[in-house]
Amino acid sequence: YKREQNDVLKAYEWLSKLYHHLLRHTKEGKEGYNYLLSRGFTDDIIDKFQLGFSPGSKDFIAEFLEKKGFHKQLMVKAGILSVNEQDVVTDRFRSRVIFPIRNHLGKCIAFGGRTITNQEPKYLNSPETDLFQKGKLLYNFDLARSAIRKEQKAVLFEGYMDVISAYKAGVHNGVATLGTSITESQAKLLRRYVDTVVICYDADKAGVQAAYKAAKLLKSVNCTVKVATMPNNLDPDEYIGQYGADRFKQDVLDASDTYMTFLMKFLAKDYNLHLEGDRIQYVERILDEIALMERPIEREYYLKELSNQFDLSLDTLSLEVRNRLKKTV
Ligand code: UTP
Ligand code: MN
Ligand code: MN
Ligand code: MN
Ligand code: MN
Repeated sequence: YKREQNDVLKAYEWLSKLYHHLLRHTKEGKEGYNYLLSRGFTDDIIDKFQLGFSPGSKDFIAEFLEKKGFHKQLMVKAGILSVNEQDVVTDRFRSRVIFPIRNHLGKCIAFGGRTITNQEPKYLNSPETDLFQKGKLLYNFDLARSAIRKEQKAVLFEGYMDVISAYKAGVHNGVATLGTSITESQAKLLRRYVDTVVICYDADKAGVQAAYKAAKLLKSVNCTVKVATMPNNLDPDEYIGQYGADRFKQDVLDASDTYMTFLMKFLAKDYNLHLEGDRIQYVERILDEIALMERPIEREYYLKELSNQFDLSLDTLSLEVRNRLKKTV
């Protein structure tokens, strides 16, 4: 078993090198290379993240691995190769730009493959295996680790492109959940390294909803949570493309909302604050959240905000919070 796992790791290593070589130095990889250039990537960035290209052929990779002496059945079991309806072993990724997914030790354990011809799915990922458990891993954690330590802060993105664009913009402490939902295991992993996590998900509806869930989960493992917001449904990669690195850092990351400010804005969307009934329900909802805050100074700060915004006395609001605290003990 140990031996099999070693072989799988070796296959991933060979393959990521092959995909990268094809992209950088061959005519088979040219369309992948051009695609990345069209998205603003440079050779340095392509090399840094070892981006590659899988050709359109149905068994180029299968034959390469066979020649290297890897067992086809093992490669299928590991999700590196696929089996078609005729039971023939074939390449899994075709005509896709390849993003190697490394574990925290820097070993390639999976791939994400982006279509360059609008195929579905947009990203095809390696299946989950013993080695690759999506919910336990953060993309780019190995490269970001030292920056995360140094800055005592991590930036959490949705995807590959966001991490890499941010890196190009000088933000080296970025990691991604590879999709929108963060797991408790990923949250705890981050917490072991940092106090502060800046959530920088896409500004579309799904992304904002996911940011809310991520914020709650990260808060529950005692992170200091900040949430960055962007205009016009943009994602971080698109924002950087349109507004540049400096504005991304200043107007998005540095200007990110505190946990409570984000929550107040986010929850406000569910209410019509011009209506008296809604206003009261909203205040109750926010009081629930304030009661969950651990630090008295934070509680008081946001109670004052509420008091000002809704013209309610601080005494009444404080009493409401005390009542809630009594119920939870
Ligand atoms: P997005 O749809 O926001 O893609 O999904 P993106 O990162 O902005 O990619 P581009 O800019 O269109 O190329 C966010 C992340 O969700 C995962 C990927 O990890 C992606 O980076 N995802 C998305 C998948 O795994 N499969 C999909 O089909 C789509
Ligand atoms: Mn290279
Ligand atoms: Mn998205
Ligand atoms: Mn996106
Ligand atoms: Mn994008």
